[in-house]
Amino acid sequence: MSLIKETDYGTPRSKAEKMVSLTVDGVQVTVPEGTSIMRAAAELGREIPKLCATDMIEAFGSCRLCLVEIQGRNGTPASCTTPVAEGMVVMTQTDRLKRLRKGVMELYISEHPLDCLTCSANGDCELQDMAGAVGLREVRYGYDGKRHPNPGIDDSNPYFTYEPSKCIVCSRCVRACEEVQGTFALTIAGRGFESVVSPSMAEPFLQSECVSCGACVQACPTATLNEKSVIQIGTPNHSVVTTCAYCGVGCSFKAEMRGEEVVRMVPYKDGKANRGHSCIKGRFAYGYATHNDRVLKPMIRSKITDPWREVSWEEAINYAASEFKRIQAKYGRSSVGGITSSRCTNEETFLVQKLIRAAFGNNNVDTCARVCHSPTGYGLKTTYGTSAGTQDFDSVQYADVVMIIGANPTDGHPVFASRMKKRLREGAKLIIVDPRRIDLVRTPHIEADFHLPLKPGTNVAVITALAHVIVTEGLVNEKFVRERCDWDEFQEWAAFVADKRHSPEEVEKYTGVPADQIRGAARLYATGGNGAIYYGLGVTEHSQGSTTVMAIANLAMATGNIGREGVGVNPLRGQNNVQGSCDMGSFPHEVSGYRHVSEDATRAMFETLWGRPLDEEPGLRIPNMMDAAVDGSFKGIYIQGEDILQSDPNTQHMAAGLAAMECVVVQDLFLVETANYAHVFLPGSTFLEKTGTFTNAERRIQMVRKVMTPKNGYEDWQITCMLSNALGYPMNYKNPSEIMDEIAALTPTFADVSYKKLDELGSVQWPCNEKAPEGTPIMHIHGFSRGKGKFVITEYVATDEKSGPRYPLLLTTGRILSQYNVGAQTRRTANVVWHEEDVLEIHPHDAEQRGVRDGDWVKLASRAGETTLRAKITERVAPGVVYTTFHHPTTQVNVVTTEFSDWATNCPEYKVTAVQVMPSNGPSEWQEEYEELTRQARRIAEPLVAAE
Ligand code: SF4
Ligand code: SF4
Ligand code: SF4
Ligand code: FES
Repeated sequence: MSLIKETDYGTPRSKAEKMVSLTVDGVQVTVPEGTSIMRAAAELGREIPKLCATDMIEAFGSCRLCLVEIQGRNGTPASCTTPVAEGMVVMTQTDRLKRLRKGVMELYISEHPLDCLTCSANGDCELQDMAGAVGLREVRYGYDGKRHPNPGIDDSNPYFTYEPSKCIVCSRCVRACEEVQGTFALTIAGRGFESVVSPSMAEPFLQSECVSCGACVQACPTATLNEKSVIQIGTPNHSVVTTCAYCGVGCSFKAEMRGEEVVRMVPYKDGKANRGHSCIKGRFAYGYATHNDRVLKPMIRSKITDPWREVSWEEAINYAASEFKRIQAKYGRSSVGGITSSRCTNEETFLVQKLIRAAFGNNNVDTCARVCHSPTGYGLKTTYGTSAGTQDFDSVQYADVVMIIGANPTDGHPVFASRMKKRLREGAKLIIVDPRRIDLVRTPHIEADFHLPLKPGTNVAVITALAHVIVTEGLVNEKFVRERCDWDEFQEWAAFVADKRHSPEEVEKYTGVPADQIRGAARLYATGGNGAIYYGLGVTEHSQGSTTVMAIANLAMATGNIGREGVGVNPLRGQNNVQGSCDMGSFPHEVSGYRHVSEDATRAMFETLWGRPLDEEPGLRIPNMMDAAVDGSFKGIYIQGEDILQSDPNTQHMAAGLAAMECVVVQDLFLVETANYAHVFLPGSTFLEKTGTFTNAERRIQMVRKVMTPKNGYEDWQITCMLSNALGYPMNYKNPSEIMDEIAALTPTFADVSYKKLDELGSVQWPCNEKAPEGTPIMHIHGFSRGKGKFVITEYVATDEKSGPRYPLLLTTGRILSQYNVGAQTRRTANVVWHEEDVLEIHPHDAEQRGVRDGDWVKLASRAGETTLRAKITERVAPGVVYTTFHHPTTQVNVVTTEFSDWATNCPEYKVTAVQVMPSNGPSEWQEEYEELTRQARRIAEPLVAAE
């Protein structure tokens, strides 16, 4: 294995359609108009020396190393800033150029520290490479040149250092922060020779606006900005392309390795989801994979009050299988079930649902999409016919109006947010529908045209009011609707939304959104050109989540914003493989490809290949499993990679359900909170230790490749196979590609997917089949998957969760950039520096009324339960609304969320809980006990882990 080196073309690709031909050193090349000479030469494989240029950012033209000669023109222009022209004749290697370049390099080197041999970037430094490329042998000016200002090394960021003495002031870092990341945290302070890179107002990186995405580190041609891991471990010697295991953006990375150790994760420029960029989590927060907390040996215990006993894999698997068999013999076939993981690969998820359907013989399988995007599946399938978003991420480049509903992309989907911000800086308009002032409402060079700060729980009313304006003001795209949608249903819907009770003026009364803002936003979306809607869990995690998804789908159809680039309805999926886990048949009513278990022909296909009859009745959803457990009819569960105790609502009920079971098998990396209720613990493997595929929010299937040996001994799919075999249902795959072949054989939308194809194309977006052998970037181009688009009546029904005298505030929850969901991984990395605890955001007015000061402990209570956390006073939340994250188990914010859920899918109503907030002296007794329980569990596991 070798180190993958991608070509650096020096300047970004031109999007122009017109082509231009020129010759470079006598060789003809044809490139799009607007391409730089540097890039045209690179296309021919001719590398012109460069320092300030790199192809992730626009050319700057400061270093003067890339000079060329052009026939018929005077001087030696910089090739990075000079565009090609038809018939141009370029020379890149004349004696004059060689002399000039050598002179430039002499100047650079004369003022650069000469510590190459001990420099962490030795062998991986563009300054060194360029000295070699121009044939520098001596420096006429000596090596004692005046140095740039050196304010000293800044190692405040846990992941990278800034050593100004090595800076050549090429400004690549500043431009990467602006153009690629869109944060504008860096500047060049001072003038001339005194110039120096400065984060924010000359602050250390950690205290600055920097969000630690690492784009500047990647752009830096010297060791000035360098990963601490490179300084500690040394430069990498081989690399493997794989996919991030955090969020649904699905960034592609080169895992750069030295032996079995990851030196750094470098975003892969050929990755079609991220195009060479990443966020702090994917680039830096992989240390959990080797964290001491990982449990590496299987453990069992008869009762959850017993200490864990470390056993062999064989004993653990046989014990789990015999318990499941005993339970089914005693309580019936349906008394057991399982939960698949959106963190695991498609192949692993597919096997877990296969085990449940074929080995357990029932459909009691569910997944964490239940608690996030199940309404997306329902809503988009009903209206358009496919349970997935309509676009690829590239599409945002063509959007003229971006509407973000109930999502916070800069925290939740940061790499996509950067691409979106770029388009917004180019002039696209922005509408935000969110109870909070998320960062995008106002961020460097971006200001939302409309922010509709609706009261939590009133999404349907606001979206229907937008539709009211579109219909009553004659803004419907009638041609599109007549051609593509069911016209009768449209008319019925149009009459419904046109009713006066849906007018912005009426809706303002209970949503809190000024009518003129709703009118303005509706007009902009309908008339502003390509309108693209992006939405998140602020849409789905409501009692009317599915209704809101359908209301959004209606809006896009009514305005013709479906079926081409720049438009669409785009759910921003949370977990790395939540799309995949749904695609793979993780729901109790659907097998892979979203086909209902009651369809005889579908079942017959599976039964033939699997050799077992399938139950035609849908199984239990997670909440129903817990209800049945409390009632005594559900007794055993196999949970792969989900911490349901922390992530699901109504924690007490979840705990009661788990405690009532006779066999809980948890397969995970750590002793997660759910493991406190487990009888069998099967150590799981990280994404670095396995091969398979993830499917991101764009339906993009990408390879995950093993870069190190699983520390627990097995990849997760192998563990499921062992359990199935022990249950008496053989699973004998030799490698995960065989599982993908089976998925393809059984799933029409995956029919042409194979590892060979993924290796060849890099990735494909489903549907990928005979009709679309290279996948489908944009859906519904010529017609909806279901035939005619379906308009659905979306009556607003207020949630039963209401604020009142006892619980006067509304709590809504979300994520923060540096942490990830229940935090099992990110809390085990240096990311805790940015977020040590969950805090409660509260408006100054509400805080003052309660005598709460910034940083005070407060009790957060609902009718379901209470917890204690610190208050953060901020105007990001409106009066009457409080907000927190759910990354820390000691906060356990889900003890306060309620049992209410989406009417269609049971997706919990996380986003609306009536609460009261009051001053407190510190963590409650319950939290202290919980902390102690967790400490005890860790103490029990510690000797076992240490022994390993
Ligand atoms: S790490 Fe990212 S946000 Fe921070 S300065 Fe560098 S480019 Fe900007
Ligand atoms: S820190 Fe690196 S990228 Fe930034 S100006 Fe200095 S040498 Fe260039
Ligand atoms: S945006 Fe998501 S997929 Fe990309 S690096 Fe960050 S966490 Fe990973
Ligand atoms: S690379 Fe062209 S001027 Fe620096």
